[in-house]
Amino acid sequence: MVGEGGYKYQSQSGPVNHEQRFPTKQELKYKKKKKMMMIKLCFLAMALLCVGPANAQTQGVVFGYGGKNGPNQWAHLNPHFTKCAAGKLQSPIDIQRRQIFYNQRLESLHRDYHTTNATLVNHVCNVAMIFSEEAGDVMIENKNYTLVQMHWHTPSEHHLHGVRYAAELHMVHQAKDGSFAVVASLFKIGTEEPFLAQMKDKLVKLKEERSKGNQTAQVEVGKIDTRHIERKTRKYFRYIGSLTTPPCSENVSWTILGKARSMSMEQVELLRSPLDTSYKNNSRPCQPLNGRRVEMFHELANKYESGNKKKKTQLN
Ligand SMILES: *[C@@H]1O[C@H](CO)[C@@H](O)[C@H](O)[C@H]1NC(C)=O
Ligand SMILES: *[C@@H]1O[C@H](CO)[C@@H](O)[C@H](O)[C@H]1NC(C)=O
Ligand SMILES: *[C@@H]1O[C@H](CO)[C@@H](O)[C@H](O)[C@H]1NC(C)=O
Ligand SMILES: *[C@@H]1O[C@H](CO)[C@@H](O)[C@H](O)[C@H]1NC(C)=O
Ligand SMILES: *[C@@H]1O[C@H](CO)[C@@H](O)[C@H](O)[C@H]1NC(C)=O
Ligand SMILES: [Zn+2]
Repeated sequence: MVGEGGYKYQSQSGPVNHEQRFPTKQELKYKKKKKMMMIKLCFLAMALLCVGPANAQTQGVVFGYGGKNGPNQWAHLNPHFTKCAAGKLQSPIDIQRRQIFYNQRLESLHRDYHTTNATLVNHVCNVAMIFSEEAGDVMIENKNYTLVQMHWHTPSEHHLHGVRYAAELHMVHQAKDGSFAVVASLFKIGTEEPFLAQMKDKLVKLKEERSKGNQTAQVEVGKIDTRHIERKTRKYFRYIGSLTTPPCSENVSWTILGKARSMSMEQVELLRSPLDTSYKNNSRPCQPLNGRRVEMFHELANKYESGNKKKKTQLN
């Protein structure tokens, strides 16, 4: 188990701390202790938070994004993680044109989020936002899913037509029966993203806490305005996948918004800054589609469809 230091997290590209001189034995010992502590914190955070609500089965194992505990090894880290390798409905995926089916029966995305008190949390493997009260819900195929938390990945996990984006927001919803629905937005580098802009100083605070040594800091954001994130969506992609972190549980309903939004480079950096080097890049590689259908909702196509059936394929 990781609490006992069984796994080291490893950075992929790791700018490691460049020491001025060789550390003494004492310092090395302290460093090792600190690392173990970090790993413990890490596994706690993973266990409780990275996959959404508490999941005891994640306890004791630290997963990472490179090296010995990287995505290719997840299934070997814990018997409960076997889905990460054996699952046939895994996420993320590359959404490619030829795999997209336009589905006229899909409805526009009904999201109803409330202006609510939020808290930014350093979950070690990502920066997340949690809510102290009912934050709202989304209706997907006549099922009501409640917003549980949201978090960001850098770079994006899903690819769109082969393109990886700079960041991806996951809004994690859960229904009464425990099933998940995640609504994802992709971000390219560009103008400032208004939702994150309203909490810039809080993100800076999270970063400061991290540099003070607190890897699991929480910063109250107060009331947040969710208008920008529930903006009307003209196009989205829907498929059945999994959680993108262990235990990689399947049957997750994914909705990827069709239009990438913008985020400034500074905002991407802010999202990464409170994370340990090995988690700054916290995106799982794309998984095989294995014959799954990716369905598309397109408001204009839906309108068009009722008028002229012939040209629908031109829209995507
Ligand atoms: C979804 O569930 C929440 C909480 O149970 C409830 O407040 C909300 O009205 C429901 N929404 C719909 C559209 O049924
Ligand atoms: C880290 O921050 C959290 C919440 O902000 C706090 O509860 C915890 O005590 C802090 N830990 C340390 C080691 O400062
Ligand atoms: C929201 O947060 C503010 C301060 O951050 C606090 O005064 C208020 O009581 C909170 N409201 C709720 C409903 O928790
Ligand atoms: C998969 O998700 C659907 C829709 O949420 C649900 O009705 C079904 O019971 C789930 N199946 C399993 C095996 O969890
Ligand atoms: C981040 O990880 C992904 C997937 O493992 C990899 O393809 C990508 O090159 C990495 N990016 C950086 C900036 O290290
Ligand atoms: Zn995620």
